[in-house]
Amino acid sequence: MDFNIAIDGPAGSGKSTIANILANKYDLMYINTGAMYRAVTLFAKENNIKPEDTEKLADLINDLKMHFDKEKLIVNGEVINDKITMPEISNSVSDYAKVQVVRELLVTAQKKLGEEYNVIMDGRDIGTNVLTDAKYKFFLTANPEERAKRRYLELTNKGLNVNFEDILNDIIKRDLIDSTREISPLKKADDAVEIDTSNLDIDGVVNCICEHIE
Ligand code: DC
Repeated sequence: MDFNIAIDGPAGSGKSTIANILANKYDLMYINTGAMYRAVTLFAKENNIKPEDTEKLADLINDLKMHFDKEKLIVNGEVINDKITMPEISNSVSDYAKVQVVRELLVTAQKKLGEEYNVIMDGRDIGTNVLTDAKYKFFLTANPEERAKRRYLELTNKGLNVNFEDILNDIIKRDLIDSTREISPLKKADDAVEIDTSNLDIDGVVNCICEHIE
């Protein structure tokens, strides 16, 4: 549609928090594409489907009825947000997200949403591949330690017993897989505005984006 916003960036750069706030402010549908890759990972693991079982993965994805209700991702009638943010999903999601058939099926669904609705969509390849004509494109970054700190606080606030070093290592490993994979790697679109959020709080990032938009 004519008012689409694309937000890309590495894990923990603040994309989903910021996208949620902007979705409310500008009355946009929020599509968290990382959550879609996480959902595929969750159901694939539950069904013992490995990243190399591409036919089974395609059948699985075709059977998943996904829709968003604000920040909630509902799959086949179940809200799965808590399950997909668990460390065992974070550890494997990049291996499923680099599979061609997974990307093709999810990107087709994401493009369709962008054509039908005014959306704010966050991920890794939104500005470069999914919403190439988006009116506004942003690329959020932050240093790995700051991003690991944010994920650590998010998980410990949920009562999970996690280790900071494990989270930092997972973030560094995912950065490498996501930015070096063959198909649509994590990359800033040429026409995206880059914002380093390392030393900004949430309001600071939101204000910066709103200034660009308004
Ligand atoms: O944003 P996130 O950490 O929830 O994303 C989970 C993983 O999904 C991330 O490591 C890479 C993958 N991903 C992707 O490949 N393309 C997207 N558009 C969004 C996420």
